[in-house]
Formats: sequence, C-alpha cells, structure tokens
Amino acid sequence: MSVKIIVGTQWGDEGKGKITDMLAGQVDLVVRYQGGNNAGHTVVVGDETFKLHLIPSGILYKSVCCVIGNGVVLDPEVLLQEIANLKKQGVDVTPKRLKISSIAHVIMPYHKALDQAQEAKRTDDEKIGTTGRGIGPTYTDKVSRLGLRMLDLLKPERLKEKLQKRFAATDLEGDIDEIVKTYSDFAKKLAPYIEDTSLFINQAIKRGQRIIMEGAQGTMLDVDHGTYPFVTSSNPIAGASCIGAGIGPHKIDQVIGVTKAYATRVGEGPFPTEEEGETEAYLREKGCEYGTTTERPRRCGWLDLVVLRYAIRVNGITELCLTKLDVLDGLKKIKICTAYELNGERVSYLPLDLDDFSEAKPIYDELPGWEEDISAVTQYEELPINAKKYIRYIRNLAETPITLISVGSKRKQTIHLLEA
Ligand code: GDP
Ligand code: IMO
Ligand code: MG
Repeated sequence: MSVKIIVGTQWGDEGKGKITDMLAGQVDLVVRYQGGNNAGHTVVVGDETFKLHLIPSGILYKSVCCVIGNGVVLDPEVLLQEIANLKKQGVDVTPKRLKISSIAHVIMPYHKALDQAQEAKRTDDEKIGTTGRGIGPTYTDKVSRLGLRMLDLLKPERLKEKLQKRFAATDLEGDIDEIVKTYSDFAKKLAPYIEDTSLFINQAIKRGQRIIMEGAQGTMLDVDHGTYPFVTSSNPIAGASCIGAGIGPHKIDQVIGVTKAYATRVGEGPFPTEEEGETEAYLREKGCEYGTTTERPRRCGWLDLVVLRYAIRVNGITELCLTKLDVLDGLKKIKICTAYELNGERVSYLPLDLDDFSEAKPIYDELPGWEEDISAVTQYEELPINAKKYIRYIRNLAETPITLISVGSKRKQTIHLLEA
C-alpha cells in the first residue's frame, strides 16, 4: 500500500504538476481532491507542453488511472474542453482512465457570474484577485446546502427542481430551462466517467495499488490555514485529501511538499518576501512567472523559510521537492528569509493575525550565488558548490529531507537524491 500526497508549500504554482508527472510513472492512480479549474498545472514531456486544470497530471502515462474526487468543484464545460484538447495532443482520455466523482459539486454559470461580480464590487483593499472561475460561490453553495452535484445533472427533472430552489434562495435570475438543457447535455457526455470514486479508490488501496493525491493551489491559499481572506475557497493542505477523496487518514504514507527555490504569488494579499524592481523582474522573466490559468504576471520574491516551516507543520510534510533551482543561476547573492521582525521583535513563527503578517519584515540571510547554468545537471554531485550550500541550508532549517531537485521543466531536468 502506498498513498502519497503532493502539496504546494507556498501560494501555488510551485511546480506540483511537474513533480506529480515525475512520480506518476511509478503509481496506478492519481487523484485530485480539491480546487477546480482555478488550478493550472503545466507538464512538459519532450517538446510537448500540457496545461492541465482539472484532470490530474498522471493522465500522460497510459498505465495511470486519474480520479477527480468529490472535493473538487467541477466545471463540466471546461472538463469536456480539456478532454478534447488532450485528445488533440494525442492523449487517450477514456472512462477507463478517468473517473469523476458522482458527488463532486458543479460550477454553474451563475457561480462564475457571482465570482466576477463579487470581485468587481470589492474595493482595491478588499480585492482577492480570484481567477473568476466560480470557485468561491460553488464552495459557498456546497456548505450552504444549495449546491448541485454531478449526479444531479444526470436527472433533468431533479436538476430543474434543485435549480428552482437555488434560484429562489437568493433571488437569482436566469433561464432555468436553458441551464437544464445545456447541463444535461454536458452530463450525458460525461456520464461514462461518473462513479463512486471513494469506493473505487478504496478498492484500489485494498488491491495494493499505489496512489498519488495531487494537491492544487498551496498551503498559504488554504481557506483555514492561509492568509485569510486572501485565499481560495478550499483546503489544499494534505489533511483535506481524506475528505476530498473519501479515504481514511491511516491510509496515507507520505506527504511530499513542493517548494520553489524562491517565492511567487498571483492575486492579492500579503507576501513578506516580495521584491520589487530588478530582482522581481529577473525571477519573473527567467522563471516565466506568468499564470497558467489567467496569464497574469506572478509577484516574485525570495524563499521564505517561516512559510516553509509552517507548511511542513500544517501538512505533516515528510519530504520536500525543491523546484526551479535553475532560475537562480547567475545571481550574485541569494537571500533567504529565516524569521520576521514584528513590532521590534524577532518572530520565527508565522503570525496568524493578518495585520501582523502584513507588517512582518523579513529577516534575511544572504548566501553566495553561482554563475553556472545548472539546467543540464542530473547528479547532485555535479551541482556548483554554492547551489549545494543553498540546498543544504534549506534542508537544515526546514528539518526535512529534500528528495528531488528540479532544474528545468522537462522530465530529464531532475535530480533524484536519497537526501541532501
Ligand atoms: P503548479 O501549479 O504547481 O503545477 O505549477 P505551474 O505549472 O503553474 O507553474 C510552474 C511552471 O514552472 C511551469 O511552467 C513548469 O513547466 C515550470 N517548471 C517546473 N519545474 C521547473 C524547474 O525546475 N525549472 C524551470 N525553469 N521551470 C520549471
Ligand atoms: P495552482 O494549482 C496560484 C489564487 C488566485 C487568487 C486566490 C483566490 O496552479 O497552484 P480563486 O479563483 O481560487 O477563488 O482565487 O487564489 N489561486 C492560485 N494561485 N496557483 C493556483 O493554482 C491558484 N488557484 C487560485 O490567484 O489570489
Ligand atoms: Mg499553477
């Protein structure tokens, strides 16, 4: 039995897609357990680039079955488009290889409209910078017990009844019959993929199959543990995978945290190590830091070990994958945040009060950089001495082993190590 969870330790876009793809070759199932098509996971295989929003990154291996768990919020139109795009790129997406939870909640057209309207109403200080994909309102309806689930779409009569109730609840306006028609059509196309995925996953575990749970977003965007209210509306952290997939906690063996060698954030909200000017421009251009989903430029800054240690704690991370180390090539000095200064005091834990977190000033250590291009390095021993020093520094302060280092978006640009 082996169930590994892959989680982002920062504000998303850590390279979870690449890491999932790297590890998926050795497993049978890859499961998404939360989020929706606010996620954008880029996987590069040879000369081909795949952009995945809903379908787990394991889909690129013929031997892997992918599962969209009940914790995901699903836009059926986007999913059908993603299946079609993958087919165009030569990836076979069949009901044997993709399972959709019958109880996953559905993103409806009014959720997208509400998301965009709510964001437009917010003042500059309040703006979250959502992806506008309807994520927040869909999760809101779920906990308000007004949501629609995939299985509702399969019965047009019931769908109509539930839509009428939903519309009446908040005086929504719109053509219910039109929605019933469109969404029943989507459901017909997706019906062969829909099943009880908790049953499917637990049976796979019983048979001894190996499973990856692929997180979306990141710890600092978690609705409980992130920089609330500048967060997404789901729980990306590892513990949520039990709920979002329908498995017991004792089934989990490993929690793999993915961290970039620096930090980025897309959307609004505090980001203590954010840089402006030359360093930000360098990291953004070298790291191609533009959103996969919205193409927005990502805010960039230095690696924050306070955030990383926090992520290790709230997720129970057992090992780390360090990505995009190559982006730091050519920098004379690399800064790394080890603590904050807050109200004249040194603080080494993440302050939970957002006012404090917003005022926290990073305390940096400075490490020497390296000149060499490391993007072709495949062995730890071949890395420049200062790159090794940087890795070991992170390993020691994070008190967690680093088992994989990524130096480029391609599969071969990866260094596996027992421990740095
Ligand atoms: P995710 O949302 O966590 O899956 O990350 P994204 O796919 O949104 O963003 C990561 C980006 O960095 C993608 O374009 C990847 O192809 C790319 N990438 C992943 N690992 C590396 C790496 O080690 N070096 C470089 N230069 N790019 C990488
Ligand atoms: P992946 O899986 C980075 C951010 C948005 C916004 C906030 C809320 O690719 O790492 P939402 O649309 O979820 O209500 O927006 O969360 N956000 C992400 N940032 N990577 C993501 O996913 C994100 N998904 C949502 O930018 O600030
Ligand atoms: Mg992304």
